[in-house]
Amino acid sequence: MTTGPRLVLGIETSCDETAAAVVAHDGDGKGRILSDIVLSQTDEHALFGGVVPEIAARAHVEALDRVVERAMTDAGIGWGDLDAVAATAGPGLIGGLLVGLSTAKAIALATGLPLVAVNHLEAHALTPRLTDGLDFPYLLLLASGGHTQLLRVDGVDRYRRYGTTIDDALGEAFDKTAKLLGLPYPGGPAVERAAARGRADRFLLPRPMLGRPGADFSLSGLKTAVRMEAEAIAPLTTGDVDDIAASFQAAVVESVADRVRHAIRRFRDDGAPAAPALVIAGGVAANGALRAALAAVAAAADFRLIAPPLRLCTDNAAMVAWAGAERLAAGFADGLDFAARPRWPLDADIAGIGGGAKGAKA
Ligand code: KG4
Ligand code: ZN
Repeated sequence: MTTGPRLVLGIETSCDETAAAVVAHDGDGKGRILSDIVLSQTDEHALFGGVVPEIAARAHVEALDRVVERAMTDAGIGWGDLDAVAATAGPGLIGGLLVGLSTAKAIALATGLPLVAVNHLEAHALTPRLTDGLDFPYLLLLASGGHTQLLRVDGVDRYRRYGTTIDDALGEAFDKTAKLLGLPYPGGPAVERAAARGRADRFLLPRPMLGRPGADFSLSGLKTAVRMEAEAIAPLTTGDVDDIAASFQAAVVESVADRVRHAIRRFRDDGAPAAPALVIAGGVAANGALRAALAAVAAAADFRLIAPPLRLCTDNAAMVAWAGAERLAAGFADGLDFAARPRWPLDADIAGIGGGAKGAKA
């Protein structure tokens, strides 16, 4: 139904990145990133070993107007060139969500542009369409500090959740293990570096959920096992730390590979296209060992493995602008009374309140 390119400004403030971007959605469904500004607050939270919500919200307030200005300048456009403004409205930390959504509402009100309230998970889920022009349906593993989900992506606003974590998120498990081992925050990259030097067979750690039906994850038992092994041999030498990191990572990788195998089977049962694809996104997708294992799982099942560039795998606003553009093209827009939603599952069945979980349809 769309003609010509549409330009959308996207705003992302749901966690510890203050981000704004302008993306063009061409008439044929292709996307182009005109600007992509991400200001990370990592340094401000590192001291605390995790994201502090109040600090995050204040940092968003202080930075967002400049970040939006930069995104518009870098794109070389003015307000009049835009077709819509999109902002992450959930799930995430409420303070940050309010900053981003209120800013988008103010811009929409001042310019008369339509507002699109974007689900952060949908923004991650639609990214491979921006980066690789991927057609629906596809299978997505979203693994970040806050989210662990296996989703079937059938279309804009059409998702089926095959699996999620029943306790900690994957990235969270890496971060907590890093903290336990005295490694720096964020923990994922530090654990991966240590693991590369260590022996993965020194500690026999549980493989959570291995072989269980379905595609859900559980990380807390593994976390406890790591703590017990570490306490048993404390004080830890550098070699101990490396070996525990390697053993932990091997357990995670094996467990995730098993969950993805199950999800692939279900994806096929639900009807797969001729050239099915497995997409990995979220900060944990940066992990080389995990990528290698999932490449093997995908190849064995005749799936293509698609990993958007890391910059677009982790939190950014280009994905929010793109999701806004896709939603706009599909006929969705939201009123200025749209309320931020700290919890916002993608799959309407899970929300238990049908399609009403989404914003007003224009
Ligand atoms: O997507 P992301 O940048 O932010 C959100 O959580 O939304 O993901 C960050 C998470 C952190 O938990 C971090 O430790 C993890 O991704 N991570 C990794 C690696 N790089 C980042 N986990 C494992 N291996 C990595 N190389
Ligand atoms: Zn995210």
